[in-house]
Amino acid sequence: MKSDCDHRAIPLRFVPGEHRIGIQRVDALKSVVAEDAFFLRNNGLVFVSSEEDLWPVHCRPFNKGLSSPYPGVLINHAIMQSCNDAITNQQKRDSSMSTYKAINLVKRPAGTIGPELFEVVEKPVPEPAEGEFLVKQTYMSLDPAMMGWMGEDTNSYIPRVELGDVMRSSGLGEVVASRHPDFAVGDQVMGMFGWQEMALTDGTGVNKVDKSVPPEMALSVFALPGLTATQGLYGYGDPKAGETLVVSGAAGSVGSIVGQLAKADGLRVIGVVGSDEKADWIVNELGFDGAVNYKTDDLGAKLDELAPEGIDVYFENTGGPIQDYVFERMNAHGRIVVCGMIADYTSANPRPGPNWMRIIKKRLSIQGFTMPDHRHKTKELHAKLTPYVQNGQIKYRAHVLEGLESAMNGLNLFLTGENKGKLMVKL
Ligand SMILES: NC(=O)c1ccc[n+]([C@@H]2O[C@H](COP(=O)([O-])OP(=O)(O)OC[C@H]3O[C@@H](n4cnc5c(N)ncnc54)[C@H](OP(=O)(O)O)[C@@H]3O)[C@@H](O)[C@H]2O)c1
Repeated sequence: MKSDCDHRAIPLRFVPGEHRIGIQRVDALKSVVAEDAFFLRNNGLVFVSSEEDLWPVHCRPFNKGLSSPYPGVLINHAIMQSCNDAITNQQKRDSSMSTYKAINLVKRPAGTIGPELFEVVEKPVPEPAEGEFLVKQTYMSLDPAMMGWMGEDTNSYIPRVELGDVMRSSGLGEVVASRHPDFAVGDQVMGMFGWQEMALTDGTGVNKVDKSVPPEMALSVFALPGLTATQGLYGYGDPKAGETLVVSGAAGSVGSIVGQLAKADGLRVIGVVGSDEKADWIVNELGFDGAVNYKTDDLGAKLDELAPEGIDVYFENTGGPIQDYVFERMNAHGRIVVCGMIADYTSANPRPGPNWMRIIKKRLSIQGFTMPDHRHKTKELHAKLTPYVQNGQIKYRAHVLEGLESAMNGLNLFLTGENKGKLMVKL
């Protein structure tokens, strides 16, 4: 019998017991299959079969016509189509198993951030050497700090990402191959895996994450946002029940946790946000005492209304015009925790700081901090944060983008304020 198939035969796994289970399904498909031949789709693989036995053979792509490469088996159009589909899927699976995608930074940003700054590359999946393991990333965190890491600055708290290198990011994933004594296949892990589908690591800076913690919660609460909020608030803010705290970027991943921790500790909490939707969320869902919309409110009047006794703690996530209004209203011995200045991250002319006279007169403490200095405290910070989470005092929302490449435009959501909650990419 003449065969119209090409010669790229693809060997299929064949386990008789396993595939016989599917024979009932084969019967159901009999009407679309010619005479004594039928097909069975199992996990996306197609098996050509005679009436008695499944053929433990190869499935080949059929290019045209209805002839069969297998003596005694007739092929109709449905079989042909299914075989070809299965082969395409198998090839996709095979190729995705032997290579993976990564995104390199190739240009430094000037303004908005998009695909023009990056190149997507395919790399062969590496084999772990002794002491290494391979992680298949499932979620990548996007963070405003990345805008700084991509920039020109060589004098920051962490080295910039060099052109041609994989873009730096933290993420969550599953160990898929391991020659490391402490990490086993199937472990859920978190670490600085970068913008890539797979990451090879020796375990430095990688932590196991209990599988009972949903990935979105792990990244939104127990990863950078929660650690930053906890370190900033308790390490420098010295919050006391009855005091008033203002937090900017209050509906963001860090700000929303800062506000909820302070609220749980008995402070009066005012959040600064850029939309009425976010104002509504922090007040009505998270229980903040008030919200200032920095885009539409009369800032001075609104702060006077919401914080009539002045401000004791200011947790600064954004900078921008609100800073001056808060600074003027700080109480004596107030604490200002400088966590982020997103309003200036892409600005050619960052705003000047406030006059220092008030720092003396009000005896203010102002402390900037960055989390890489506190990496060694992760356990301690989790121990502080976890009871609040267990008591149901920390709510979060995750803003999930789909697919590796979505990261390239995703960072702009921070600048427009369109991210609603912790921004992350699902791979
Ligand atoms: N020091 C550290 O180690 C550390 C660690 C983590 C994060 N951070 C910093 O903490 C801040 C918050 O980070 P995050 O991850 O939680 O981000 P996020 O708050 O979830 O997202 C950033 C938010 O900033 C607001 N924003 C953007 N442009 C603004 C502007 N010009 N003026 C005022 N607000 C603006 C937007 O909210 P609106 O819609 O409300 O404007 C946006 O949604 C960032 O500055 C980040 O760099 C610092």
